[in-house]
Amino acid sequence: MDFVKAANTTDIPVGGMKGAKIGSVDILIANVGGKYYAIAGLCTHRKGKLAEGRLDGSVVTCPRHGSTFDIITGKSVGGPKMLGFRGKTSDEPVFEVKVEGTDILVKI
Ligand code: FES
Repeated sequence: MDFVKAANTTDIPVGGMKGAKIGSVDILIANVGGKYYAIAGLCTHRKGKLAEGRLDGSVVTCPRHGSTFDIITGKSVGGPKMLGFRGKTSDEPVFEVKVEGTDILVKI
């Protein structure tokens, strides 16, 4: 378990997010108020790519069925909406992040 470079700080402005792949692991990195956070990049519902979703504050919305996750805690804050019903989905794994210079490093 080591820190691995996943992105540059210049790639992710405040309020932005970016997907990255470290080995076979998809991750999502977001900049919330100038601090970087990382969770798994695929939705726990049906593997929607969270990087293609929307970030509002610290909450990322999956582009597929609208599940929402807190990027800071990885907690599911809203389940998928399908056929007019809102279901449940699991929390996302959270990864430790540190910044060295302009490198964003994620511990996988
Ligand atoms: S795949 Fe993300 S909400 Fe269904």
